[in-house]
Amino acid sequence: MTTIAQASLSRRLAVLSLAGFAASTFAQSNSSYEPQRGQAGKDVIWIPTPDETVTRMLQMAEVKPTDRVFDLGSGDGKIAIAAAREFGARATGLEYNPDMVGLSSRRAQQAGVADKVQFRQADIFQADFSSATVVTMYLLPALNLRLRPLLFKMAPGTRVVSHSFTMGDWTPDETARAGYGDVYLWHIPANASGNWKLSGTGLPDTTLALAQRYQVLSGDAGFGELRASLVRPRIVGAQIAFGLRDPKGQLWQFEGQVAGDRITGTATRPGQPGVPFEARRAGDASPIVPTTAAAEQDASAFAASTAR
Ligand SMILES: C[S@@+](CC[C@H](N)C(=O)[O-])C[C@H]1O[C@@H](n2cnc3c(N)ncnc32)[C@H](O)[C@@H]1O
Repeated sequence: MTTIAQASLSRRLAVLSLAGFAASTFAQSNSSYEPQRGQAGKDVIWIPTPDETVTRMLQMAEVKPTDRVFDLGSGDGKIAIAAAREFGARATGLEYNPDMVGLSSRRAQQAGVADKVQFRQADIFQADFSSATVVTMYLLPALNLRLRPLLFKMAPGTRVVSHSFTMGDWTPDETARAGYGDVYLWHIPANASGNWKLSGTGLPDTTLALAQRYQVLSGDAGFGELRASLVRPRIVGAQIAFGLRDPKGQLWQFEGQVAGDRITGTATRPGQPGVPFEARRAGDASPIVPTTAAAEQDASAFAASTAR
């Protein structure tokens, strides 16, 4: 005769075989776990981001099915689950508390997205999330600053969205108020700093001298002895654009893509068809973010100022 306990065990085993080993371990051991809002976490407590804010964060990052979303400190898993359920992306939640990892794995199953979402027990400062195309977080300002050097090692174009907290002096590309907090979006920029030699336009001996801090770009074009500042230079991910006034006073528009020491794209002047251009960097790029040591100093200064 099958007892209630046996029936319940076999139901659980059926769930486990669907969920995969990592999720199943937690489902078996902690299936009645109930998190408490405000409970301690390794570096920050757990408070869930409100639903409308989650949606706005993922909208601002323009999450699509080809994206790989990582939520750093994933709590009950709601951001990763929404990325899969509402936007069709693959998503990973990194969470230090193993009970929360188990809970979020069960919630992913209940939401029908266990094939697209995984949760890993990990310390976000030790884990590898370099494969992400979108990184989300609801942490603390000092933790964001500690993450910043890691974020700048990610591929240009990676989107970073933070609920409530900024990234020190790195100005966001977009902000919004959603729910009870603000949401901030940044794009990881390519590094276009340095000296470049431009070809393909037919303009004589053109050089570019570009300076960059975070995603803020400035620079000059040089034609032999003549120099002129670039007009509205900008960089979003690997996409670069700027205006350049040639020695005859004609304004060219350049749009291209930075890939290592090479920029390729199209240059257009009024009334003429676009022409392909190429620029090659001569020498090294400069750092576009403060060094890790400087960022850590910023972070500890911030922590000290908030402790007072
Ligand atoms: C404010 S909650 C945000 C949860 C979720 N991202 C959301 O927005 O709903 C922060 C989460 O980070 C987790 N956490 C804190 N320090 C961590 C660390 N070093 N590594 C991984 N997770 C951490 C906490 O346990 C908590 O679940």
